[in-house]
Amino acid sequence: MNIRRMTLADIPAVIQIDALAGILLPWSPAAYAGELRKPTSFCWVAEIQTPEPLEYASPLPLSVESVSYPSGAQAVIGSITLWDTAGEGEIANLAVHPRFWRQGVGRALLQTAFHQAAALGLKRILLEVRASNHAAQQLYRSFGFIEDGRRPHYYSNGEDAILMSATVQFSA
Ligand SMILES: CC(C)(COP(=O)(O)OP(=O)(O)OC[C@H]1O[C@@H](n2cnc3c(N)ncnc32)[C@H](O)[C@@H]1OP(=O)(O)O)[C@@H](O)C(=O)NCCC(=O)NCCS
Repeated sequence: MNIRRMTLADIPAVIQIDALAGILLPWSPAAYAGELRKPTSFCWVAEIQTPEPLEYASPLPLSVESVSYPSGAQAVIGSITLWDTAGEGEIANLAVHPRFWRQGVGRALLQTAFHQAAALGLKRILLEVRASNHAAQQLYRSFGFIEDGRRPHYYSNGEDAILMSATVQFSA
Protein backbone atom coordinates (compact mmCIF):
# COMPACT_ATOMS: atom_id res chain seq x y z
CA MET A 1 0.00 0.00 0.00
CA ASN A 2 1.19 3.49 -0.83
CA ILE A 3 0.04 6.77 0.75
CA ARG A 4 0.41 9.93 -1.33
CA ARG A 5 -1.11 13.41 -1.58
CA MET A 6 -4.49 13.52 -3.31
CA THR A 7 -4.70 15.05 -6.80
CA LEU A 8 -7.66 16.33 -8.83
CA ALA A 9 -7.66 13.07 -10.79
CA ASP A 10 -8.37 11.11 -7.58
CA ILE A 11 -11.55 12.99 -6.71
CA PRO A 12 -14.12 10.69 -8.41
CA ALA A 13 -12.67 7.61 -6.68
CA VAL A 14 -12.45 9.43 -3.33
CA ILE A 15 -16.10 10.49 -3.50
CA GLN A 16 -17.26 7.04 -4.62
CA ILE A 17 -15.37 5.53 -1.67
CA ASP A 18 -16.88 8.06 0.76
CA ALA A 19 -20.34 7.02 -0.42
CA LEU A 20 -19.58 3.28 -0.44
CA ALA A 21 -18.13 3.58 3.09
CA GLY A 22 -21.46 4.97 4.30
CA ILE A 23 -20.77 8.69 4.49
CA LEU A 24 -24.25 10.04 3.88
CA LEU A 25 -23.31 13.45 2.51
CA PRO A 26 -19.97 13.07 0.72
CA TRP A 27 -18.20 16.27 -0.22
CA SER A 28 -18.78 17.42 -3.79
CA PRO A 29 -16.03 17.42 -6.44
CA ALA A 30 -15.84 21.22 -6.08
CA ALA A 31 -15.42 20.91 -2.32
CA TYR A 32 -12.55 18.44 -2.70
CA ALA A 33 -10.97 20.57 -5.42
CA GLY A 34 -11.16 23.52 -3.03
CA GLU A 35 -9.43 21.47 -0.33
CA LEU A 36 -6.58 20.69 -2.72
CA ARG A 37 -6.00 24.41 -3.27
CA LYS A 38 -6.01 25.43 0.40
CA PRO A 39 -2.59 25.70 2.03
CA THR A 40 -4.16 24.73 5.38
CA SER A 41 -5.73 21.54 4.05
CA PHE A 42 -3.83 18.28 3.57
CA CYS A 43 -5.46 15.43 1.67
CA TRP A 44 -3.95 12.00 1.08
CA VAL A 45 -5.07 8.82 -0.63
CA ALA A 46 -4.10 5.22 0.00
CA GLU A 47 -3.59 3.18 -3.13
CA ILE A 48 -2.70 -0.39 -4.03
CA GLN A 49 -1.79 -2.16 -7.23
CA THR A 50 -4.98 -4.12 -7.63
CA PRO A 51 -4.60 -7.77 -8.64
CA GLU A 52 -8.15 -7.79 -10.01
CA PRO A 53 -10.42 -5.27 -11.72
CA LEU A 54 -12.28 -2.91 -9.37
CA GLU A 55 -15.48 -0.98 -10.09
CA TYR A 56 -16.72 1.80 -7.79
CA ALA A 57 -20.34 2.72 -8.39
CA SER A 58 -22.20 4.00 -5.37
CA PRO A 59 -26.00 3.64 -5.24
CA LEU A 60 -26.17 7.28 -4.03
CA PRO A 61 -26.90 9.89 -6.69
CA LEU A 62 -23.42 11.41 -6.92
CA SER A 63 -22.09 14.19 -9.10
CA VAL A 64 -19.11 12.05 -10.13
CA GLU A 65 -18.87 9.20 -12.57
CA SER A 66 -18.27 5.58 -11.53
CA VAL A 67 -14.63 4.51 -11.45
CA SER A 68 -13.06 1.41 -13.01
CA TYR A 69 -9.57 0.06 -12.46
CA PRO A 70 -8.25 -2.80 -14.62
CA SER A 71 -6.13 -5.46 -12.94
CA GLY A 72 -2.58 -4.20 -12.37
CA ALA A 73 -3.67 -0.55 -12.06
CA GLN A 74 -2.93 1.66 -9.05
CA ALA A 75 -6.31 1.88 -7.32
CA VAL A 76 -7.31 4.45 -4.71
CA ILE A 77 -8.84 2.61 -1.73
CA GLY A 78 -9.14 5.33 0.94
CA SER A 79 -8.51 8.94 1.82
CA ILE A 80 -8.02 11.33 4.71
CA THR A 81 -8.15 15.11 5.05
CA LEU A 82 -6.36 17.03 7.80
CA TRP A 83 -7.01 20.71 8.45
CA ASP A 84 -4.58 23.05 10.14
CA THR A 85 -7.03 25.25 12.00
CA ALA A 86 -5.32 28.05 13.92
CA GLY A 87 -2.59 25.81 15.24
CA GLU A 88 -4.75 22.77 15.90
CA GLY A 89 -5.33 19.84 13.60
CA GLU A 90 -8.72 18.53 12.62
CA ILE A 91 -9.50 15.29 10.85
CA ALA A 92 -12.14 16.54 8.43
CA ASN A 93 -12.67 13.32 6.50
CA LEU A 94 -11.56 9.69 6.58
CA ALA A 95 -12.95 6.76 4.61
CA VAL A 96 -11.72 3.41 3.37
CA HIS A 97 -13.45 1.29 0.71
CA PRO A 98 -15.40 -1.39 2.63
CA ARG A 99 -13.75 -4.14 0.63
CA PHE A 100 -10.44 -3.15 2.28
CA TRP A 101 -11.61 -2.62 5.86
CA ARG A 102 -9.59 -4.18 8.71
CA GLN A 103 -6.41 -4.30 6.65
CA GLY A 104 -4.62 -1.37 8.27
CA VAL A 105 -5.53 1.26 5.65
CA GLY A 106 -7.31 3.61 8.08
CA ARG A 107 -4.43 3.30 10.54
CA ALA A 108 -1.87 4.12 7.82
CA LEU A 109 -3.85 7.18 6.71
CA LEU A 110 -4.22 8.45 10.26
CA GLN A 111 -0.51 7.87 10.89
CA THR A 112 0.25 10.06 7.87
CA ALA A 113 -1.98 12.82 9.24
CA PHE A 114 -0.22 12.62 12.63
CA HIS A 115 3.22 12.89 10.97
CA GLN A 116 2.06 15.97 9.07
CA ALA A 117 0.57 17.48 12.22
CA ALA A 118 3.87 16.98 14.03
CA ALA A 119 5.77 18.53 11.11
CA LEU A 120 3.44 21.54 11.26
CA GLY A 121 3.98 21.87 15.01
CA LEU A 122 0.31 21.25 15.81
CA LYS A 123 -0.22 20.29 19.44
CA ARG A 124 -3.59 18.57 19.19
CA ILE A 125 -5.79 16.92 16.64
CA LEU A 126 -9.56 17.20 17.01
CA LEU A 127 -12.41 15.41 15.27
CA GLU A 128 -16.06 14.58 15.56
CA VAL A 129 -17.58 11.17 15.01
CA ARG A 130 -21.08 9.72 15.09
CA ALA A 131 -22.01 8.16 18.43
CA SER A 132 -22.90 4.91 16.61
CA ASN A 133 -19.59 4.70 14.72
CA HIS A 134 -17.76 2.29 17.00
CA ALA A 135 -15.26 1.19 14.33
CA ALA A 136 -13.93 4.72 13.85
CA GLN A 137 -13.98 5.45 17.59
CA GLN A 138 -11.93 2.30 18.22
CA LEU A 139 -9.42 3.35 15.58
CA TYR A 140 -9.19 6.85 17.07
CA ARG A 141 -8.75 5.53 20.62
CA SER A 142 -5.83 3.43 19.43
CA PHE A 143 -4.15 6.74 18.45
CA GLY A 144 -4.73 8.24 21.89
CA PHE A 145 -7.94 10.12 21.10
CA ILE A 146 -10.20 10.65 24.09
CA GLU A 147 -13.77 11.88 24.23
CA ASP A 148 -13.92 15.61 25.03
CA GLY A 149 -17.61 16.26 24.74
CA ARG A 150 -20.77 15.71 22.73
CA ARG A 151 -22.95 17.69 20.39
CA PRO A 152 -26.46 16.35 20.97
CA HIS A 153 -28.52 15.65 17.83
CA TYR A 154 -25.75 17.09 15.66
CA TYR A 155 -26.39 14.90 12.62
CA SER A 156 -29.44 15.14 10.39
CA ASN A 157 -30.81 11.81 11.68
CA GLY A 158 -30.73 13.19 15.23
CA GLU A 159 -27.60 11.30 16.21
CA ASP A 160 -25.07 12.84 18.63
CA ALA A 161 -21.58 13.82 17.55
CA ILE A 162 -18.79 12.75 19.88
CA LEU A 163 -15.91 15.23 20.02
CA MET A 164 -12.49 13.65 20.40
CA SER A 165 -8.97 14.99 20.68
CA ALA A 166 -5.46 13.58 20.82
CA THR A 167 -2.08 15.07 21.64
CA VAL A 168 0.46 15.09 18.81
CA GLN A 169 3.78 13.61 19.86
CA PHE A 170 6.72 15.68 18.74
CA SER A 171 9.29 12.89 18.70
CA ALA A 172 10.83 12.40 15.25
C1 LIG B 1 -13.25 3.80 10.27
C2 LIG B 1 -12.50 3.26 9.03
C3 LIG B 1 -11.82 4.42 8.31
C4 LIG B 1 -11.43 2.27 9.52
O1 LIG B 1 -10.66 1.90 8.38
P1 LIG B 1 -9.91 0.49 8.31
O2 LIG B 1 -8.94 0.56 7.19
O3 LIG B 1 -10.88 -0.61 8.30
O4 LIG B 1 -9.14 0.51 9.70
P2 LIG B 1 -7.86 -0.36 10.10
O5 LIG B 1 -7.87 -1.69 9.41
O6 LIG B 1 -6.64 0.48 9.92
O7 LIG B 1 -8.14 -0.61 11.65
C5 LIG B 1 -7.30 -0.08 12.64
C6 LIG B 1 -7.96 -0.36 14.00
O8 LIG B 1 -9.18 0.35 14.11
C7 LIG B 1 -10.13 -0.45 14.86
N1 LIG B 1 -11.23 -0.86 13.99
C8 LIG B 1 -11.35 -0.69 12.66
N2 LIG B 1 -12.53 -1.18 12.23
C9 LIG B 1 -13.16 -1.68 13.32
C10 LIG B 1 -14.40 -2.32 13.52
N3 LIG B 1 -15.25 -2.57 12.52
N4 LIG B 1 -14.74 -2.67 14.77
C11 LIG B 1 -13.90 -2.44 15.82
N5 LIG B 1 -12.69 -1.86 15.69
C12 LIG B 1 -12.33 -1.47 14.45
C13 LIG B 1 -9.35 -1.65 15.34
O9 LIG B 1 -8.72 -1.30 16.56
C14 LIG B 1 -8.32 -1.80 14.23
O10 LIG B 1 -7.20 -2.52 14.60
P3 LIG B 1 -7.19 -4.14 14.42
O11 LIG B 1 -7.75 -4.44 13.05
O12 LIG B 1 -5.75 -4.48 14.56
O13 LIG B 1 -8.08 -4.66 15.50
C15 LIG B 1 -13.47 2.50 8.09
O14 LIG B 1 -14.20 1.58 8.86
C16 LIG B 1 -14.42 3.40 7.33
O15 LIG B 1 -14.11 3.88 6.25
N6 LIG B 1 -15.63 3.60 7.91
C17 LIG B 1 -16.66 4.41 7.26
C18 LIG B 1 -16.30 5.87 7.23
C19 LIG B 1 -16.02 6.40 8.60
O16 LIG B 1 -16.60 5.97 9.59
N7 LIG B 1 -15.11 7.38 8.68
C20 LIG B 1 -14.77 8.04 9.92
C21 LIG B 1 -15.72 9.15 10.13
S1 LIG B 1 -15.36 10.01 11.67
